[in-house]
Amino acid sequence: MERCSLIAPAKINLYLEIIGDRPDGFHELAMVMQSVDLVDRIDLHSISTDTIRVRCSHPGVPSDRSNLAYRAARLMAERFPETFANLGGVEIHIDKQIPIAAGLAGGSANAAAVLVGLNLLWKLGLTQPELQELAAELGSDIPFCISGGTALATGRGEKISPLPNMEGLHVVLGKFRNLAVSTPWAYKTFRERFSHQYITDKAEQAERHREVHAGPMVSALFKHDREKIGRLLYNDLEKIVLPEFPDVAKLREAMAEPEVLGAMMSGSGPTVFALTDTEEKACRVRDAVRAKILDEELDLWVTKFFPTGISTVDGV
Ligand code: C5P
Repeated sequence: MERCSLIAPAKINLYLEIIGDRPDGFHELAMVMQSVDLVDRIDLHSISTDTIRVRCSHPGVPSDRSNLAYRAARLMAERFPETFANLGGVEIHIDKQIPIAAGLAGGSANAAAVLVGLNLLWKLGLTQPELQELAAELGSDIPFCISGGTALATGRGEKISPLPNMEGLHVVLGKFRNLAVSTPWAYKTFRERFSHQYITDKAEQAERHREVHAGPMVSALFKHDREKIGRLLYNDLEKIVLPEFPDVAKLREAMAEPEVLGAMMSGSGPTVFALTDTEEKACRVRDAVRAKILDEELDLWVTKFFPTGISTVDGV
C-alpha cells in the first residue's frame, strides 16, 4: 500500500467539567465528547525520501513542524525508525472543512488520522489502545479523535470510556471566522479565577469522576433521553470565554431558539452549538440565527452526531 485516505470528524463537548489541577500542569477533567459529521479528509502518500511533508487546503494552517499532523508523523517515524527508513517519507494532504482554532478538535482529528493512516500504510499492526497511547503524547483530545462516537473522557481528556452512540441528534454549529480562542489562555484564566474551588485530593478527584460517570448526563445518554441531554449540556470554560468574547455570548443566546434541545459552547470555544431532534429544526435554527446576527464573519453549519472516529475512505 502506498497511499491511504481517511475521514477525520470534528468533536463537540456535551459536558466539560474542570475538576482540579494535575501534577503535570494540566487540568483533571470529566468530559462527554461527541463526534460530529463535519469532517476533514486526510490523504497519505508514501514518498521516496526521508521527509514528512504537510499540505493543507486552508491557507491558515501551518505546514511546518508546528502542525499536529506533522508531529504525529514525526512521532511515528521516531518510534518506528526502521520502517520509516525502509518505506521512506510521507506526504500528508489535509482537505480542511473543520474550522481552525474553533474548539472542535480539528487539528487533533488530523493528527489522529495520521496515526491511524501510518499504522495501515506501514503495516505496523498497532491496536487502537496502542495508537491512543501514542496519541496522548501529542495532545489531550487526540485519543478520543481516534475512537470517536460518544465517549466519556477523563484524566487530561486522554482516558476514554465509550458510551452508547446517540443517533438522530442534529447539530447547528456557529463560529465567527475572525475569532479564535487560545486553549492554554482559557485554562490558565480558569485556574486564576476558580482554583479555590478545585478538588485537590486525588481520592476525591477519583470520586468526582465516578459521580460524573454515574451522573445524570451519562444516564441520559444511556436512556437516549434527548430532552435531558439538551438540558444537561455543560461547559466550565463558558465562565471564562463568554464574558471575554461578547460575540460568542450573543451567538449562544441567539442559538437558544425555542426548538432547540440545548445550546452550549464547545471546548474552549469560540464555536457554539445547538442540538435539535430533526434536521428540519436544525435548518430553521440556522436560518433564525442568520436572521438575528447580520455579520458576514459568522459561519453556520447544520450537521449531525457521527458514530465513529477515524475511518478509511472506501476503496482507497
Ligand atoms: O493537550 P492539548 O495540547 O490539547 O492542550 C492544550 C492546552 O490546554 C494545554 O497546554 C493546557 O494549557 C490546556 N489543558 C489543560 N488541561 C487539560 C487539557 C488542556 O490545562 N486537561
